[in-house]
Amino acid sequence: MKAAVVTDFSQPPRCADFPEPAAPSGGELVVDVLAAGLHRRVRSQADGSHYTSTGTLPMVPGVDGVGRDAEGRLRYFVLDEPVLGAMAERTVIDARRSVVLPAGADPVAVAAAVNPVMSSWLALRARAAFQPGQSVLIIGATGSAGRMAVQVARHLGAGRVVVAGRNSERLARAVQAGAQASISLLGTDDEIAAAVAREAADVDVVLDYVWGPLTAVAMTALVTARPDRSRPLTWVEIGSVGGASAAIPSAALRQARLTLVGSGQGSVGVREILGELPAMIDAVSSGAFAIDAVRVPLADVERAFVDPALADARVVIVP
Ligand SMILES: NC(=O)c1ccc[n+]([C@@H]2O[C@H](COP(=O)([O-])OP(=O)(O)OC[C@H]3O[C@@H](n4cnc5c(N)ncnc54)[C@H](OP(=O)(O)O)[C@@H]3O)[C@@H](O)[C@H]2O)c1
Repeated sequence: MKAAVVTDFSQPPRCADFPEPAAPSGGELVVDVLAAGLHRRVRSQADGSHYTSTGTLPMVPGVDGVGRDAEGRLRYFVLDEPVLGAMAERTVIDARRSVVLPAGADPVAVAAAVNPVMSSWLALRARAAFQPGQSVLIIGATGSAGRMAVQVARHLGAGRVVVAGRNSERLARAVQAGAQASISLLGTDDEIAAAVAREAADVDVVLDYVWGPLTAVAMTALVTARPDRSRPLTWVEIGSVGGASAAIPSAALRQARLTLVGSGQGSVGVREILGELPAMIDAVSSGAFAIDAVRVPLADVERAFVDPALADARVVIVP
């Protein structure tokens, strides 16, 4: 069969022949893949840089997708497989890590959206015990996952959403997508601290895609300016594009009712992910989120990984 094959982590995957999936064992199914999302997580899987990489080569990337099972049902599936991923004509899925899609669901839209929706959905639902009406600050709201987080927070009932990022055009678009206030991260630390204190001092949850020195600045400003310091604040660390470490002052943890948690593969269990999947898929299938998926045939998978014009797009590989 054809698949997107990585033989060298310094090269993009290429469409090539790959052995058919082995006969499935208990709970497994072979599916014909209809759509597999090229998410950031898949890029880091394909270049060997993701923290879960085993270094095994050759391998086929793709952590999730939509396939048709032997009974003709469409299933959204999540894979935890270092060798045969979703970007192939066929793959093996664990039926327990899949959800049968509602009739009429669009495989490309589901494959494009569920993974980006997941980072903020799980952070809010599984890590922050978020309640409708609460307010949310999204740091890194101009990025791929952060842009979706604005829509997810609104969909889950956020009362007020504050977005923070550097790209002013994208910040403005986040406001159009439903955020009530924005914070530019382009200024000095003092300017950023003042903006956080002004716009976000009373939020209930922070979704932090950036981390690094910026987090220390924003967290200190937020807890210091908090009008009611006994009001619970959950800070969810999701990404680290701004730096792997953040120097959190001890006073930040003492002077306000701050809970610091992470959200990602490991801190959110498979059972929790599966528990939330049906609601996520319902929301995606009902058109709750603006997706703008770009479909690319499997034969062109190499271009999908290297074309700068597609670097920010929600690309879906279609075998
Ligand atoms: N844990 C999970 O489940 C999960 C899921 C998805 C993503 N992630 C992680 O979340 C992070 C963001 O992912 P993404 O796909 O949204 O990435 P992305 O599209 O590259 O976006 C990066 C975002 O970070 C901002 N940024 C980058 N460096 C910054 C800095 N030094 N100071 C301030 N802002 C900075 C960018 O701002 P501008 O564009 O405005 O410059 C943009 O908003 C990554 O670390 C990714 O691995 C984690």
